[in-house]
Amino acid sequence: FQQKVLAGRRVMITAGPTFEPIDPVRGITNLSSGKMGYAIARAAREAGADVTLVSGPVSLPTPHGVRRIDVLTAQQMHDAVMAGVTGQHVFIGVAAVADWRVVNASDQKLKKTPDGAPPALEFAQNADILASVAATVSLSGWPYCVGFAAESEQLEAYGAAKREKKGIPLLVGNIGPQTFGQDDNTIILFDEHGHVLLERADKLTLARQLVSEIGKRLEQRSLL
Ligand code: C5P
Repeated sequence: FQQKVLAGRRVMITAGPTFEPIDPVRGITNLSSGKMGYAIARAAREAGADVTLVSGPVSLPTPHGVRRIDVLTAQQMHDAVMAGVTGQHVFIGVAAVADWRVVNASDQKLKKTPDGAPPALEFAQNADILASVAATVSLSGWPYCVGFAAESEQLEAYGAAKREKKGIPLLVGNIGPQTFGQDDNTIILFDEHGHVLLERADKLTLARQLVSEIGKRLEQRSLL
């Protein structure tokens, strides 16, 4: 009998896109399907963790045994995460969070005007949820923070830099551009020792490999 790698661990995961309203029926979103985040939630649960999934709008079933909190906007995702992150052992930011929200969203549906002038949208930058969580890491090192990067070029160079900039121990790079909505993916893990490539596979296989890599790193930590 082998102990499951995340037995007794609490894991919080963000997944999917966010949706930033323009008016009651329109908004700005992105092509994240949520498949990778949901696969990781399933894999973490299989590995024995207590899993909380904070999810943007996606059409995927909740993985068995996973607690799911649905949100729409980046601000709601931020608030849900910050309200629940205390006591988590691992935080994995997989969501494709909108960088900007519309500050002058209309309460009523916007109408076309006779002169054809489009609405003037004003934007404000959203908080970086992963950075906000990383800023709460206690002296004991919890939660162990994992981030994702979906760069369209030069992932190897950007990946290491992004890990440093975000101040997190592990960053997962998606090898794009064809990852959003796909069932397969290729990822690179960046940590303090360098990077390792996980060969192209379906997202659940990669999620299980990632969970096992996270489990190994937590094990090493608890030995320190
Ligand atoms: O900086 P960039 O958006 O490329 O970083 C991507 C990583 O940061 C992902 O893990 C994503 O979930 C997280 N992120 C976040 N909040 C944001 C923007 C990105 O948690 N506002």
